[in-house]
Amino acid sequence: MIIQSKSHPYSVESFDDLASALDASSLPERSHWLVDQVLLQHHAAAFRGRLPELRTVLIEATEERKSYEAIGPVFLDLLGKGLKRDGNLVVVGGGVVQDIGCFIATVLARGIGWELVPTTLLAQADSCIGSKSSINIGSFKNQIGTFYPPHRVLLCPATLRSLPWDEIRSGVGEIIKFQLLTGESEFRELMRDLASLSGQPQAIAKWIHRSLEIKKGYIEEDEFDRGRRNLLNYGHTFGHAYESATHYGIPHGIAVVLGMLTATYVSIQMSMTDHAHFDDVRTQLLPWCEPYGDLLAKVDLDEVVLAMRRDKKNTVDGVNCILTRGFGKMEKRRVDIDRVVAPSLQAFIKRELH
Ligand SMILES: NC(=O)c1ccc[n+]([C@@H]2O[C@H](COP(=O)([O-])OP(=O)(O)OC[C@H]3O[C@@H](n4cnc5c(N)ncnc54)[C@H](O)[C@@H]3O)[C@@H](O)[C@H]2O)c1
Repeated sequence: MIIQSKSHPYSVESFDDLASALDASSLPERSHWLVDQVLLQHHAAAFRGRLPELRTVLIEATEERKSYEAIGPVFLDLLGKGLKRDGNLVVVGGGVVQDIGCFIATVLARGIGWELVPTTLLAQADSCIGSKSSINIGSFKNQIGTFYPPHRVLLCPATLRSLPWDEIRSGVGEIIKFQLLTGESEFRELMRDLASLSGQPQAIAKWIHRSLEIKKGYIEEDEFDRGRRNLLNYGHTFGHAYESATHYGIPHGIAVVLGMLTATYVSIQMSMTDHAHFDDVRTQLLPWCEPYGDLLAKVDLDEVVLAMRRDKKNTVDGVNCILTRGFGKMEKRRVDIDRVVAPSLQAFIKRELH
């Protein structure tokens, strides 16, 4: 698959095993490596003999490390190990390591070549294309960022065998979003396939590729997220508020699923859809959220509303969110917090999560 970008076109190539993906990186004699240290432990055999010690930086994939404050030492480490303008950075990890690597590749020497080996389901099915980097500063999440795609994406679904089940479900959340945005038959086919997913995550390869095909359509039309790409935020306005109110106790993609259910519920209040559609989607999605639906049911509603008021995309009295008229019919709408959002959240959280 080739993705068109205002920076440069880039390819997404698939590999059967991690070692082959690592071997396929360009310029092995000039590349520096930024690698998720947990991943390295899980796949030590694939990495053996492939990481030049003097040109490798290992990193912990945490939100603290993905911050403006913590990223300076990573720059220094890579510069100290000789990374220069004509170099190439191979980034191996999930969304956290991707965000750090993309940010560094964008600003180091005003832009160096970089390649990405995404290793979580979320990174493989979603974040590996689309050009974005997002870095935290202080308590503000993802507030600093750039648009700069990798030069190649080297994709290996077999790497997911070591990924914890919650992280798999987090990636599934974004995959569900892409199918809900596309249409009813696609969504139902996905839900049938997911029923047999547990214990064999490699079976999800088909849905990784379908998700990327769908995302490609959005980002090639609106790479800088000023129009149609906004629809990919379906579930995110409420999901982010749930993540924030639970102090990131809910994995991102699962919060997005809960957010999509909330958006569907709010859409009923806005006379855009009916309760039958909500019940249909709810019955299928809620099992994917356990036990986090129960966690959300205990959350302080005021915290959620406060998080929405603080979100930079919203104002104190209005929320900009993606609502739905049914499968494949999403629309960006502005919704009043006090009159619509707060009462809808109250009813959704208290009544619809069991
Ligand atoms: N830039 C974008 O477009 C974009 C899009 C969505 C999300 N994000 C960001 O991505 C981050 C979340 O990323 P994520 O969900 O990919 O997870 P992650 O990078 O936080 O990784 C989750 C955990 O899995 C481990 N891990 C990674 N690969 C593994 C593997 N194959 N086997 C075993 N363990 C493995 C990591 O060490 C970590 O402990 C958030 O910071 C979010 O803001 C970025």
